[in-house]
Amino acid sequence: MKRVLVFDSGVGGLSVLDAIAASGHALELDYVADNAWLPYGLKSDAELRARVPALLTRMVEQWAPELVVVACNTASTIVLDAVRSALAIPVVGVVPPIKPAAALTRTGVIGLLATPATVRRAYTNDLITQFAPDKRVVRFGSSALVEAAESKLRGEPSGEAAITEAMEGLFGAPGGGEIDVVALACTHFPLLAQELAAAAPRSCVWLDSGEAIARRVANVLISSPGQARTHRAAFTDAAAASELFPAFQARGFTAAAAVSGAPHFDVQLLSDFASV
Ligand code: DGL
Repeated sequence: MKRVLVFDSGVGGLSVLDAIAASGHALELDYVADNAWLPYGLKSDAELRARVPALLTRMVEQWAPELVVVACNTASTIVLDAVRSALAIPVVGVVPPIKPAAALTRTGVIGLLATPATVRRAYTNDLITQFAPDKRVVRFGSSALVEAAESKLRGEPSGEAAITEAMEGLFGAPGGGEIDVVALACTHFPLLAQELAAAAPRSCVWLDSGEAIARRVANVLISSPGQARTHRAAFTDAAAASELFPAFQARGFTAAAAVSGAPHFDVQLLSDFASV
């Protein structure tokens, strides 16, 4: 079975992993969360450029996947080329779903919900210029929503204040009252899809990139039909992993691992993962 390594700053990549697992392809899925560095949305471009390719290079050396999914918009929009140059295997990144949002909107107003880094990236501006030149795009950047998704998957209250703030920021902005499609351009946010839809002042289409990535992964690897299997989940902050691992176990993960700090990024399986 072909092995795929899914990467994110935290648990956000699980929204992408869920889409890959649901796509009906026989793949072995491992995961690495750089949770010691979360949130990426508040890191500088230079910091991400220095860290992400180095971390992924070491993870690939140690876990030998056949493909890496950078399941993080904040990283993809700035380091994808560097990761591709560093690795000898295919790398699939996440693209903010501006193109499908532009195709679906009837009012011509799209909401773009992402991290503070992703909403201001040149990459995002280019996507809008290319795929939504005649649409109005109302943007809102939130790191609090990233923390809200992390809390939810730890089994804690999922940040009502962050959700309210984001909905006010988006729908209360000039033109925001006409938003009918919201592009979720942070992989953490689909984990809060129900809460966001319930708090929004009007009914909208909520779009994410999970299914598109799952299709891309299957095409690149030419995988056979079957059921995906999950296996190992690694964390750069292994102490926090004890609270996070149950969300991974619920998805069938059987092993937790700790990744040491830069520059070595040595990965070590935690033998008593059941009690992580
Ligand atoms: N899940 C990530 C994204 O897609 C980043 C969240 C963060 O660490 O700020 O943007």
